[in-house]
Amino acid sequence: MRVELGEQVLEIDVDGGRTRRFHYVWLRDNCWCSDCRVEQTAERKLLTWSIPEDIRARSVEPVEGGMVIDWSDGHRSTYSLDWLEANDYSQPGLKRAREQATLWRSDFEVPRFAHESVMIEGAGQLAYLDAVREFGVAIVEGVPAVPGEVERFAEAIGHVREVAFERVHNVYHDPDGYNVAHTPLELKPHSDMPSYHWPPSIQLLHFLANEASGGESVVVDGWNALAQLKEADPYAFETLTRVPVPYQLFSEEEDTYAVAPMVQLGPDGEVATFRFSNQLALPISIDFEMVEPFYDAYRKLGNLIDSPYAKVVFKARNGDLLTVHGHRVLHGRMPFVPGTGARHLQDVYMEFDDFMAKRRVLMGVHKPVSSGAAR
Ligand code: OGA
Ligand code: ZN
Ligand code: ZN
Repeated sequence: MRVELGEQVLEIDVDGGRTRRFHYVWLRDNCWCSDCRVEQTAERKLLTWSIPEDIRARSVEPVEGGMVIDWSDGHRSTYSLDWLEANDYSQPGLKRAREQATLWRSDFEVPRFAHESVMIEGAGQLAYLDAVREFGVAIVEGVPAVPGEVERFAEAIGHVREVAFERVHNVYHDPDGYNVAHTPLELKPHSDMPSYHWPPSIQLLHFLANEASGGESVVVDGWNALAQLKEADPYAFETLTRVPVPYQLFSEEEDTYAVAPMVQLGPDGEVATFRFSNQLALPISIDFEMVEPFYDAYRKLGNLIDSPYAKVVFKARNGDLLTVHGHRVLHGRMPFVPGTGARHLQDVYMEFDDFMAKRRVLMGVHKPVSSGAAR
């Protein structure tokens, strides 16, 4: 093992392997001794902002499977080589791969899972969560077509995200309904609740009865449409990340309203949230010269989404439960003919983070790995 102490950085080679570089402040920050951690919980105790700006390693002593550092602030820390290797950030190629989504289009077959297998904490449930993570959409079939079952399903996986309107939304033909979903009209691909600054990131649509003629379901990978737009017209894409659009959903008792760009990016520049709802948009009020660029971008994106290339169309069966990632996958339906058969859905919202939390627990990766245990 070769160790070199630089001005601010420690360099280490193990057995002639690649050189790994770590900042002193980062290493000091990640000490796992009992002074630096709450032993009972593995939470941090060391206050990051208390680390002196001139922190330096005074000496490094190799030990079996790791090394001990004597710090200029008088502290001593132990690091295992395995942990250093797993947490090396010094070469771009080694950076933890971003959790990649697999984008899809019309030829995609929505993955299907059996209700019994998803309700049990095990491989079947994990496979369902993996599919939602990767594709943003999945169907669970054979869910008892009983009112309230969708809520029981939600609570088995995570938690219901409450919003205005009902905890469980009923969707059927209702001449007094407050939303176009309550009519027999076509619903173009959309995301629900853009009228919240944080729209629900998971939506469950449970088909109690889907026997009317028409009413086929449509799903579109919104992130794929955005990738196409970005490729074809980067300026149009960028415009949609900057122009605020107001959205409103209201009834006699409720009035939800939010103003946000259709596309919001994460720190890596990738799409983080996407809202798309023709029916709920209000008049935009933006810089005068941005109006034409906005409509140009919106027109291009809308045509990408509302195209046979993008749409997966299927007729949901009674008892199917459709899961969509609400910040990624758009859902819609074809018009149906009232009087030709029963049609009743129940919707519940949830949060994607709770799906990923459940997935991490099922995979057994939720316990943090200490930096200190030598091999
Ligand atoms: C919804 C919706 C789809 C349908 O419930 O949010 O868009 O099939 N409905 O009626
Ligand atoms: Zn410590
Ligand atoms: Zn909807």
